[in-house]
Amino acid sequence: MVEAIETFDQYGRKIAGDEMTENKDKYVAENKPALVSLEAGKKYAWCTCKLSKTQPFCDGSHKVTDKRPMVFTADKNEDVLLCVCKATQSGPYCDGSHNNLEDVYAEATPEEVESMKDSLFIERENGKALIDGGAYVLTPQADNDKIVGNLRYQPVISEEDGATKLSLHKLSLSPGTTPWLEYKGVDTVLYFVDGKGKIDIAGREFDVAGEAGIYVRPGEAFRIMTEGDMTVYATACPMLSDLIVSEKNQSEFQADHPERYVAFDLATANVMANRFYQELVDKKVGSNEVTQFIGQIPKSRAAMHRHLYEEAIVILSGFGRMWTGTKWATVECGDVLFLPHRQGHSLECTADDGMLLMGVFYPSGSPAINY
Ligand code: FES
Repeated sequence: MVEAIETFDQYGRKIAGDEMTENKDKYVAENKPALVSLEAGKKYAWCTCKLSKTQPFCDGSHKVTDKRPMVFTADKNEDVLLCVCKATQSGPYCDGSHNNLEDVYAEATPEEVESMKDSLFIERENGKALIDGGAYVLTPQADNDKIVGNLRYQPVISEEDGATKLSLHKLSLSPGTTPWLEYKGVDTVLYFVDGKGKIDIAGREFDVAGEAGIYVRPGEAFRIMTEGDMTVYATACPMLSDLIVSEKNQSEFQADHPERYVAFDLATANVMANRFYQELVDKKVGSNEVTQFIGQIPKSRAAMHRHLYEEAIVILSGFGRMWTGTKWATVECGDVLFLPHRQGHSLECTADDGMLLMGVFYPSGSPAINY
């Protein structure tokens, strides 16, 4: 619950007049959110004036302005990102607006580039380069595919790889109809890289084509029909590495959620400085726990940043490098990247034409929110 009243400190204590600072204009909040551990039942006063020296919380400095802090009580113990730039539309929480305060997305500074110049280049072993903190870059190897009918499939992110929140399978289809597939009882998010065909979700058919996402609700099985080759990535959240393959459908389409399919459409993409992204599968199709997006980055090297979610990325075009602090690996079209939550990373695109990627992460949110 959030309410706008005045003059509490970060612990919810009322601030007396002599505690007000005279720091107007001396402090300008940085354009990054602050990671804060909230305690259930505790009251917090979020600074809205930008002048506090105890960001993101109020220190009373607003007294020289017409602004007031926003006081809120934490519902539960939770780590959150509170806005420091004050451009958020979802105060006190960061909504990613800090990315749009500059014309160019936050790039690695010369100091950051210098500090990583001795990072270790990691060579692939069986297609996989293990970088810092359990993160990795993987080129899926066709030899690892299991084959059932016209379907070849393999896990590319699983419990065995250290994932705790999401899993990812690569599905490679030749013409025909796949068996029924299901991740039992969890959310399934599919991304169609290429090809054209139909998907049958528990008895309801949808047309599908490349550059689109689709949401399959817990309890529903699906199968895919195609007249040509097709590549599909299947994410299960919470993480479930066991993809059940069967000849029969025993599930029922949940007709109270008929909208499932979202195609990439540049006209509806969100602009983020000199980049853009479009959320495909998210709350608008009923996916409350997991978010899927497609994003474009220009030739550039992002500043090192982290997310509170675990993320899978598939490189759809372009090439570059993934930096994670002390290690780095090359990335190219078709690679899968796994990023545990809170793992610092910086994706560098070295291709003149930029890079296109599909990302999927859990728990859900906005891909623009980072710290
Ligand atoms: S820090 Fe303000 S929106 Fe992210």
